[in-house]
Amino acid sequence: MVMKQIAILILTGLFLGGCSPKASGQYETVKLQKDNLEQVIEAMTLQEKVSLVVGGGMTGSSIGAAGITQPIPRLGIPALELSDGPAGLRLRSTATTWFPSASLLASTWDTSLVREVGKAMGAEALAQGVDVILGPAMNIHRHPLCGRNFEYYSEDPLLSGKMASAMVLGIQETGTGACLKHFAANNQETNRNNNNVIADERTLREIYYRGFEIAVKESSPKTIMTSYNRINGIYTSEDKNLLTDILRYEWKFDGVVMTDWFGGQDAAAQISAGNDLLEPGKRRQRRAIIKAVKNGTLPERTLNTSVRRILKLVSNSPSFTKQAQDQPLTETENAAIARKAAARGMVLLENRNALPLNDTIQRIALFGVSSYRLVAGGVGSGEVYAAQTFSPTQGLEEAGYLPDREIMKRYESYIDSVNRAYKRKWKSITQRILGQGLPAEINPGRETIALAADRNQAALITLGRRTGEFSDRKIEEDYLFTATEKELIEDISRAFQDAGKPVIVVLNVGGVIETASWSDQPDAIILAWMPGQEGGRVLAGILSGKVNPSGKLPVTIPMRLEDHASHRNFPLEEVPVNWLSFLGKKRTEPETERPNVDFTQYNEGIYVGYRDFDKNGKNVAYPFGYGLSYTDFRYSNAVVHLENQKVIVSCLVTNTGERAGREVVQVYVSAPEGKVDKPVQELKGFVATSQLEPGGSQEIRVILPLESLASFVTGTGWVVDPGEYTFRIGSSSRDIRQEIRLPGIPELILPLHARLP
Ligand code: BGC
Repeated sequence: MVMKQIAILILTGLFLGGCSPKASGQYETVKLQKDNLEQVIEAMTLQEKVSLVVGGGMTGSSIGAAGITQPIPRLGIPALELSDGPAGLRLRSTATTWFPSASLLASTWDTSLVREVGKAMGAEALAQGVDVILGPAMNIHRHPLCGRNFEYYSEDPLLSGKMASAMVLGIQETGTGACLKHFAANNQETNRNNNNVIADERTLREIYYRGFEIAVKESSPKTIMTSYNRINGIYTSEDKNLLTDILRYEWKFDGVVMTDWFGGQDAAAQISAGNDLLEPGKRRQRRAIIKAVKNGTLPERTLNTSVRRILKLVSNSPSFTKQAQDQPLTETENAAIARKAAARGMVLLENRNALPLNDTIQRIALFGVSSYRLVAGGVGSGEVYAAQTFSPTQGLEEAGYLPDREIMKRYESYIDSVNRAYKRKWKSITQRILGQGLPAEINPGRETIALAADRNQAALITLGRRTGEFSDRKIEEDYLFTATEKELIEDISRAFQDAGKPVIVVLNVGGVIETASWSDQPDAIILAWMPGQEGGRVLAGILSGKVNPSGKLPVTIPMRLEDHASHRNFPLEEVPVNWLSFLGKKRTEPETERPNVDFTQYNEGIYVGYRDFDKNGKNVAYPFGYGLSYTDFRYSNAVVHLENQKVIVSCLVTNTGERAGREVVQVYVSAPEGKVDKPVQELKGFVATSQLEPGGSQEIRVILPLESLASFVTGTGWVVDPGEYTFRIGSSSRDIRQEIRLPGIPELILPLHARLP
């Protein structure tokens, strides 16, 4: 009898959450509120604390999200739903709006527009029961072949940081949390789980951390996701200097840091470093943390710190506050925002009097698989399951154009046959996860093209790339066009141009591709990026002139890939995905480390993108910040002056053409010689104008705090060298319209310890 009672007591204790008497005793009735976190922590058993810092597994979500935090019902702690991702919610259970991908959003250079996109996404998250959106993603486009560049904004940290801030502000305005990812230097997919980035401190601070720093300070994201890779030998999720000293003490981040899915190796080291939440969460991690607390290697108060941060996140989350939207945005409203964003971010690269199409043009022959199957976004966690995406053909038809039926039939039957064959094919794990690629291009043949040139008034060739998570892009047949794609452009351009009919090439890609060898052939080139579900409709607007393109490149398009300084240190060989390592298998030290796979030397330092092309005077295909419009802008009345430790730059922009349009005004700064080597110029500010009617003007003002002119001097901190600075106001990094020198900038030294609390 006594034994039975003892057994019941033990079982009840376990059921109530573990071995602490507190759990079943005096604190049993404590329920989470916003202001009782300490009491709740007091009442928690060790097991409960650990269950909070280790997520609820890949399948824990009730709405098909990527992950959850675990609920503890007895303490009134609900589960949080964490859903990808940067281009819209990725829910296995529901169709959601597919917004344009980040490289397109960055091409708008328009922070209020990106904020609007964030707000729409945040509202949709609320309506679906999502607490945290796993985005924005903001790694730097170090090299064009990174497979996830479409999810990232730019090669420039200021543009990335400002875009990410705008996105976070928009998302969080709704009560949903945002998550900056992947902190930091996740610039390649090859061996991303173990790759060791070797970079000096200045490079990390000025290029790879800077965007995160801006976003943390300007938008206070509720969460940050660490990257998979190591930096100088340490997994970022286990790096105390990065997660505590830099992120929290220096930048004052006060939210939750979570791992990327299965990221890092040592659960206790992650908690010690300040990585509060391990996602999606494994039993092994729970055991390791309990063991570390019990043997004293992880002080319980350190664990409590992470628990406290997660409780704070939970107590402010929609799931806890039961916040429902006042007026959820309707699907059509969200689609309209997705359309507006895509319209502002597509970039017109070439236009030899072909666009907008002459009003008499109706019959258009559409070539290229992507004319019929839009690549709305990339694959992997950045994918979105939208109810419908609009291909160029659908968009054009809707706008009243007449796509050529013969050509359409030809493509549709080809695509169907490829799809049928794919269904029958044996598929590897990687293929199953990433899904079917785009069917390879076909050339309908010169005869068919000639007949199409007779029947139609213009040709559109849409060439697409489907890229994404887990692997980097290849040079052949990806960065470079395939032989068939080249032939298509050549044959169609010749046939249509001989008949005096324009040919437009649309690039439906997530990252940069080679253009220099063929860009003189078609009459116009539109970089449509991965434009989200509304892509085809927006393209129709650009062709007809309803939309005047205003996108500007957030990256450089080089003449040759090898021109990138990072090219010497980027993985060019295909390395199969190591799924065991992705799932968190312990890394064993390889006998020989493979360059660019096991480690990658960032030897180019801060000279990434235009910083390198400018320094080394390299010719480029299209410079950073470049993009054409159907109208022209004049820059005048530039003034620069120093006021209260801030440089104020202003100028007048006037639409001198015949169509209404928007301009993106960019402010680059050249610094005097100083303690460290400086780039020729760096982007320090920008403004997207409002829609200017012909003859209309707008005064632009950019305010630059002095410290934004600083360089990082290792061992000292951020330093503004004294002397004369040149402020260069331009329409692209290589089209500077006004240049003003400002002498007398005082020296400013911001030592790092001065930033600690
Ligand atoms: C990606 C993250 C994503 C997570 C959850 C990882 O593979 O790197 O960006 O948020 O999966 O889906």
